[in-house]
Amino acid sequence: MINLDKNRIPKHIAIICDGNGRWAKKRGMPRTYGHRKGGFTIRDVARAANELGVKAITFYCFSTENWNRPAEEVNYLMSAPLRYVKRYKKDVINSSGSLHLIGRKDRLPKPLLDLFNEIEEATKDHTGISVNLCVDYGSYDELTTAIKNICKDYKDDKITLDDIKPELMNNYLMTKDLPPLDLLIRTSGEYRISNFLLWQLAYSELYFTDVLWPDFNKDELIKAIADYQGRDRRFGAIKDENK
Ligand code: IPE
Ligand code: IPE
Ligand code: MG
Repeated sequence: MINLDKNRIPKHIAIICDGNGRWAKKRGMPRTYGHRKGGFTIRDVARAANELGVKAITFYCFSTENWNRPAEEVNYLMSAPLRYVKRYKKDVINSSGSLHLIGRKDRLPKPLLDLFNEIEEATKDHTGISVNLCVDYGSYDELTTAIKNICKDYKDDKITLDDIKPELMNNYLMTKDLPPLDLLIRTSGEYRISNFLLWQLAYSELYFTDVLWPDFNKDELIKAIADYQGRDRRFGAIKDENK
């Protein structure tokens, strides 16, 4: 059994939940079967993260590039979250946590947006874990939107050129209310970032596992956190004893 150091639990974990299609294929099932199981995994891993004391967890569920998949798969991925989140709405509202949608909002089905608005409103004062689902999210989109909004605020005399600093940039990102990203996990044995949280990842620890997303669980999360706790985060500096 792995014993985690309770004092060094990452505050914010993000996960690229990859491998649903391959998981289904291995079972001779359609890709949507993997997405269905992957949805339950998101629920279970969010609960596990809460139990372990994580403050925020961010799941990459649908990228701005995932629209390029066959219509049948896109339709499933756009409709399943609505049914799914509806089912757990009460649980979330009665919990101490909060649920948020991160990404472009202009291409998502209205009922999905309405449901998230309702849950966000009902949980806005909750101080427990913040669970964030990235749907129609891409870093290129997030960063270009941030730049556009900074330019607008500059033009409207709300900020000066000197105000434009890394700290200010954070306020224009879709993750502005979240703690800095400590740990990024990617499942399914792929070693790439796929347009996820490019700015936020600057000093995050990265953890890659071959486990396919539908098979990921609390034990795998504990393994990832244990690995993180073994890292030496220097942020470009050197340790006191080497000075
Ligand atoms: C991740 O699983 C979920 C989404 C990207 C929507 P995939 O659907 O990418 O599964 P693989 O990578 O093809 O196995
Ligand atoms: C990244 O997975 C996006 C999500 C997990 C939502 P993809 O399967 O879309 O990424 P690539 O195509 O392998 O880079
Ligand atoms: Mg994939």
